[in-house]
Amino acid sequence: MTNSQRKILVTSALPYANGSIHLGHLLEYIQTDIWVRFQKSRGHMCTYVCADDAHGTAIMLRAEKEGRSPEAQIAAVKAEHEADFAAFQIGFDNFHSTHSEENRVLSEEIYKACRDKGHINVRSIKQLYDPVKELFLADRYIKGECPKCGAADQYGDNCEACGATYTPAELKNPYSTISGATPVEKESEHYFFRLQDFDAYLKEWTRSGTLQNEIANKLAEWLDAGLQEWDISRDAPYFGFEIPDAPGKYFYVWLDAPIGYMASFKNLCDSETGKAQGLDFAEYWQQGSEAELYHFIGKDIVNFHALFWPAMLTAAEYRTPTAVNAHGFVTVNGSKMSKSRGTFIKARTYLNHLNPTYLRYYFAAKLGSSVDDFDLNLEDFVQRANSDLVNKLVNIASRTANFVFKAGGKLSDNCVEAAMVQDFINAGDQIAAHYEAREFGKAMKDIMALADRANEYIQEKAPWAMNKEEGRQQEVIDVCSVAINLFRQLITYLAPVLPEIAEKTAEFLNLDDLKWDSRSNILLGHQINKFQPMLARAEMDKVNAILEETKAELAIENGEQPAAAADSKQGKKEEKKDKKAKNKGPELREDGNEVIADTIEFPDFAKVDLRVARIVKANHVEGAEKLLQLTLDIGNGETRNVFSGIKSAYNPEDLEGKLTIMVANLAPRKMKFGMSEGMVLAAGPGGSEIYLLEPNDGAQPGMRVM
Ligand code: 2FM
Ligand code: ZN
Repeated sequence: MTNSQRKILVTSALPYANGSIHLGHLLEYIQTDIWVRFQKSRGHMCTYVCADDAHGTAIMLRAEKEGRSPEAQIAAVKAEHEADFAAFQIGFDNFHSTHSEENRVLSEEIYKACRDKGHINVRSIKQLYDPVKELFLADRYIKGECPKCGAADQYGDNCEACGATYTPAELKNPYSTISGATPVEKESEHYFFRLQDFDAYLKEWTRSGTLQNEIANKLAEWLDAGLQEWDISRDAPYFGFEIPDAPGKYFYVWLDAPIGYMASFKNLCDSETGKAQGLDFAEYWQQGSEAELYHFIGKDIVNFHALFWPAMLTAAEYRTPTAVNAHGFVTVNGSKMSKSRGTFIKARTYLNHLNPTYLRYYFAAKLGSSVDDFDLNLEDFVQRANSDLVNKLVNIASRTANFVFKAGGKLSDNCVEAAMVQDFINAGDQIAAHYEAREFGKAMKDIMALADRANEYIQEKAPWAMNKEEGRQQEVIDVCSVAINLFRQLITYLAPVLPEIAEKTAEFLNLDDLKWDSRSNILLGHQINKFQPMLARAEMDKVNAILEETKAELAIENGEQPAAAADSKQGKKEEKKDKKAKNKGPELREDGNEVIADTIEFPDFAKVDLRVARIVKANHVEGAEKLLQLTLDIGNGETRNVFSGIKSAYNPEDLEGKLTIMVANLAPRKMKFGMSEGMVLAAGPGGSEIYLLEPNDGAQPGMRVM
């Protein structure tokens, strides 16, 4: 160990043990794995642990449905998860389970510490109860008729038909989705963690550089609104750990889930591997520890990681995380992952058709340190994998290696382009800084710029032409040796992202490893091996096969013939939802894009430039069923061309001269009929009932809407 060697413990969120790993999960595991591999390459003592999140009602019910014990259920899922992770080259140092002895001991210890310090309250609460199944029902297990519009089969918190929100107790004719029975209200004692005791502490902690700004701002809203106590108990029957001195009461799954990070690490420390590595549990988890602790998570679970978790750790006198790194959600082709569209892609389904290397690279190429959502655009994905990895990167070696190999496989004794190779070596410092900051996209951009330079060099020297000329054989070897040295630098930088390619490269270059610092030793007079093909081209056909297989899985889930996927129940449900979303607004739908009505944060809203615009011209569009072409005056002499799906409700001549509101900073979109440079706002269910939003008199074109 050197003086500057850091001790780093890293986690990814624990996947639930009742479902398969899918692309949404993989973004996080790949992001974390890249960061961990980078730290290891830099020579740090970095340990990556994870586990299955094995407790809770859902897992209990799923096991029952499958006709096996929860233990058998979670063991089967764990084996599946581990196989998927291994295939995607997620290099956990340990993958454990929250249903483990280590976790039971730690959960009890942490709970008792909280209790003994007065942070646990016990009181009775009323909840809906399934008298047939004899269990308390979480909201998601209750359905009924909407108290407002009467729509049937609505969930316990909001109505999909009219958008009303309510409590499950307000539903008319409620029923348990588990047994069909009518729920009854029942009282029972619950255990609460007094989060409010940590108010001042959390206000400070969330602003101490531990969180991304967007996340700290979001938490500040909750902190300002005042923290509430947190219900940490569930009544039997429940699959989990019984609370000490509280028979029949179990820890809520989210109480022992993050403790699972510690438990997995403890399990590693106590293993032969952990001992050989000198890992010491207390050294990493005691207060004042010099080890760093990072949690990588999705933005939807920050409250658990950045409020409850640091509070519990502090109560139990353990250290808190160095940082919690949140990422956004994965969308596919600009929309939420969807089963009926075949974009809710399981890890295994992907693996059945495509090499994980492409996905690891695409994630890296587009990931930054922010919590923005990540769009997997399938065409861009294929194109990028091929142009960057196959055409640019692997090509460097495949075009040059054979000349060296055929001449005996020994690289030149001297480097004829020492300055360029040195540039590549020097570039590693900036690339490392990007990796460290989780700015993988920036790192990939720098690396690909270097790859361009390497290709330009090869192209300019054209060793294949030189090789045909008498007496230039040494020159050919010299040039190819430079190229191979450049390739070595590039793969060193890409190794955290492309571990399989890095392994093949180490084999080809006859090197033990491609650790970051080893790149400074230029390979001179070095024996290499025969170059083997490293990566085939990605094909769109394979992507389409993935989508089809995913749709077929859905049909099978619904007990149908695979070919019936599009007509499946789930498919129908999603289609209905899609239609509903489409009916909500009259936006341009002829491009097939759809509206996603997820909650957004204020900074996202603030990015939208809404402006008053005057419709100076409105025309029919030949061949378009729904569109009108609008020319909008948005002030300061600027006009915009916008295609708007309002034809069913307006005659163009009635629109001319009207004021309306437009989104002025929407990226221009190329449509079948021309470029659309923004969007006008309207409301209504569709058809003839579309009402353009019209500001009151006094508003002028160009005014910003606030
Ligand atoms: O959201 C989830 O999928 C949870 N299973 C994550 C748990 S992370 C940690 F706290 F255990
Ligand atoms: Zn309703």
